[in-house]
Amino acid sequence: MAFRHGRLRKELTMDAAEYTSSLRVDLEIVNAALVINAVHLKQLYRLGYLDKSSLVAALTALRELMRNPPPMTDFSLEDVHIVIEEELRRRVPLAADMLSLGKSRNDTVSAAIRIRVRERGCELIKDLLDLIVDVVEVSEREASTIFPVYTHMQPAMPATYGFVLSSYASRLIGAIRSLLRSISDLNRSPLGAAAIAGSSLPLDRRWVAEELGFEGLVTNALEATSSRDFLIDVLGSLLRIGVIFSDVGEDLVVLSSAEFGLIEMDESLSSTSSIMPNKKNPVVAEVMRTKVAEVVAELVRVASIISRRFGGYNLDLQQSTESTWRAFNSIESTVPMIRALIRTTKVNREKSLYACRPPIGMVELANKLVSDHKVPFRTAHVICGEISRALERGELEDSELESLMKRHGLAIKLTRDEIHEILDPVRVVESYRTEGSSNPSTVRDMARMTLREVEELRRAVEEKLEAFMSIYERAFSI
Ligand code: ARG
Repeated sequence: MAFRHGRLRKELTMDAAEYTSSLRVDLEIVNAALVINAVHLKQLYRLGYLDKSSLVAALTALRELMRNPPPMTDFSLEDVHIVIEEELRRRVPLAADMLSLGKSRNDTVSAAIRIRVRERGCELIKDLLDLIVDVVEVSEREASTIFPVYTHMQPAMPATYGFVLSSYASRLIGAIRSLLRSISDLNRSPLGAAAIAGSSLPLDRRWVAEELGFEGLVTNALEATSSRDFLIDVLGSLLRIGVIFSDVGEDLVVLSSAEFGLIEMDESLSSTSSIMPNKKNPVVAEVMRTKVAEVVAELVRVASIISRRFGGYNLDLQQSTESTWRAFNSIESTVPMIRALIRTTKVNREKSLYACRPPIGMVELANKLVSDHKVPFRTAHVICGEISRALERGELEDSELESLMKRHGLAIKLTRDEIHEILDPVRVVESYRTEGSSNPSTVRDMARMTLREVEELRRAVEEKLEAFMSIYERAFSI
């Protein structure tokens, strides 16, 4: 690295070079850095700092580097930005010498991270939309499969398996919208901020931004070069997805346990014990359950690194970037696994129907006492609480019911058979009539609605991704 020797007389030690280099992580942003350099050189040509033939040769060289990425093994070159400069120097020295005119690694790397995050973000959203389609498909198929839902981990109400899946789909849509917002927010150009305080060159920041598919600028040069705050939003959105994955993993592990036994995971996604021959272990769901830990660790790492920053750029910031890619990896690699789990997991219909037997759904008897007999809800609640208690013990005679009503001053005749009829889980779920309930027909409505949302989001994200990728076609020709 020849430019070092103006200011410094000694080489960086090999250890220090390896210790401080970002080359291993920079693989992720090579293309983004190349395209930024191409646009920057075009700007220098427009401003008269570079002749046309050097520009043309340099653009060709940079495009070639896109196809054949340069080796990133010489740590003395510090990072991808210097690697590119050195590669260009071998081909078009005049252009290489001008690369840092009006452009610092500080504004470049911030721009490159933003470019790569928006690409990976959009790719991830496309994958998640495919996952949602799977979830909705099974949700529709199982729209009327009676299944209990829990609060406080105690059975609460009869619902359907399709309804539970539909809740996953709707959460995923929320997380996707969050990720899209994060991408929109970060999609602003820091370029032209130079190292920290701007430049005396007549750089056209807005032109550069447009060429690179950014919508506007990170205006303040200090913020543009040194803030990584946008990563908090991205990681926050990834964390939302991680939380969903972990929750689904937990649901699957618990519901498939022998004690619940309401679902069964496919053998192709289970393993056994090396000592206990009886075991069928839900290993994929277990690993999936750790995703929130992985992403939260990266989020904490990034927030810790980017805080306590004094002034502008410090090399600490470099260390935050790999966390972002690791969080993406963690979420991306889970998508095919959760798709496989959702598609292949079977419901144990008898057991889940049995799990919905009275007193589950007792609130519906209380509702009936209110609607049909004008009993105040609190009274109905107490009566139904007593009935629940008796049912849990197993015995409930018609005579007991009669005296119960009498005690509450009610002339209502209610038999044990009637209670079982009213609380029949199929009847109960079909009686739900609020929007978003687990009534099978509502679950089917929600499935249709979700698929419409998926298509709307798919169009939006594909349009974005196309715009983001089109910069690579434009940048290397003049
Ligand atoms: N490798 C650095 C990073 O990833 C690029 C910026 C370095 N700037 C500097 N002045 N050394 O953040």
